[in-house]
Amino acid sequence: MSRFAEPQDELFRALNSSVSYDFRLAEYDLAQSRAHARMLGARGILAEHDVAVLLKGLDRVAEEVESARFEVHPHDEDVHMAIERRLTELAGPVGGRLHTARSRNDQVATDVAMFVRDSAEGAAALCTEAMAALLDLAERHLDWPLPGYTHLQRAQPVYLSHHLLAWLWKLRRDRERFRLCRTLSDELPLGAGALAGVNFDTDRATLAGELGFASVAPNSIDAVSNRDFVLDYLSAAATCATHLSQLGAEIVLWSSEEFGFCSVADAFASGSSIMPQKKNPDAAELLRAKAPRVVGHLSALHGVLHGLPLTYNKDLQEDKEHLFDAVDTLELSLSVAARMLEGITFDRARMAAAAADEMLAATDVADLLVTRDVPFRQAHGVVAGLVRHAVDSGRRLSELTEAELGELAPDLPPAALAGVLSEHGWLETKVSEGGTSLARVRTQIERARAELEPAAG
Ligand code: ARG
Repeated sequence: MSRFAEPQDELFRALNSSVSYDFRLAEYDLAQSRAHARMLGARGILAEHDVAVLLKGLDRVAEEVESARFEVHPHDEDVHMAIERRLTELAGPVGGRLHTARSRNDQVATDVAMFVRDSAEGAAALCTEAMAALLDLAERHLDWPLPGYTHLQRAQPVYLSHHLLAWLWKLRRDRERFRLCRTLSDELPLGAGALAGVNFDTDRATLAGELGFASVAPNSIDAVSNRDFVLDYLSAAATCATHLSQLGAEIVLWSSEEFGFCSVADAFASGSSIMPQKKNPDAAELLRAKAPRVVGHLSALHGVLHGLPLTYNKDLQEDKEHLFDAVDTLELSLSVAARMLEGITFDRARMAAAAADEMLAATDVADLLVTRDVPFRQAHGVVAGLVRHAVDSGRRLSELTEAELGELAPDLPPAALAGVLSEHGWLETKVSEGGTSLARVRTQIERARAELEPAAG
């Protein structure tokens, strides 16, 4: 019997059906169904012989799923109905007993929480791989100077190792966000029923243990309406994808003829169908372009969830495609980023030539005046005057005459200025904690290594 006198409209079926994409959750659905059946038996809610038949049937369904022999029927609304339908075909009417003390509402929340948990762990592990690639690059380019930029204008010189490690720390925070997401998806929804709990004395603690959850969701209403863990994953993924986008953008820029700082391995570049000389950094460009897609999934889910009354609403079905595509996009992007970084090469001479630009020492010249008791703001003005004079007359700072210096910067002894400009020691004077001097970079590398040790990773 059905509640409905009329068959389902075909167009509504197309709108309503989720099996084409949520079948991806089949392994989780089967795992929770096995645990649920065992628990029902242990509690005396189902007879042990029925449980044995159910478990055997579930094993056969699992075999079909694993070997891709499972046939989804057009009338299977979602993964849960498809599995129950097949179980009943294989095990007989006892298959209908599996849904005792369970609703698809707590079932789907459980599947998605398990999927998010695994995906968050996977993303954290991929962050670690990308971090390892960056650390390796940093160690191999410890003392290679290049200009650091603000506003994409040359600002102050830094070591390449220091610059590369900046990306590592961003990924470390991403990894923390995925770990937090994993922790926050660790409460078992199963057992909440449709929304109010169930009419049987179930054993949720055992279920939680078997399914790898740290605890049981304390409120059935919250449990079936909660999709925070999906938001958490998407939010962590959006930030991480944005970092990869920034990294990709920098590689595109640096590998251009204009910069010439780096070159990606041929395996991560492609040619042009018309211009034979081209080597395009497509992988980096696509890292740059994938981020908005992930961010879009995050804002889409905020859109789905906002304004929803408690508890389960069919709107919640719209969490999955956003989640799945974000997971696929992010995992591919992180894997490509790590591999591309492993094979990237840098042009030491090009970077050194750019870093030798004397103008990069302007702040250091101002600081020289500060050590001679000139207030920094005033020193800044004096050096700005020197820079302007040099630029206007088409010369470098070191080419200004003693007479000009005497007039424009009377507190600045020419010999001291020459020292700052010639010694190329602007990097080594950045001795503050977290700065670019080699001693500080070495300390940073030690910290980064500790982050990659198994206990931390
Ligand atoms: N396919 C549904 C989803 O993904 C499963 C839950 C359906 N629950 C219901 N009461 N119709 O959300």
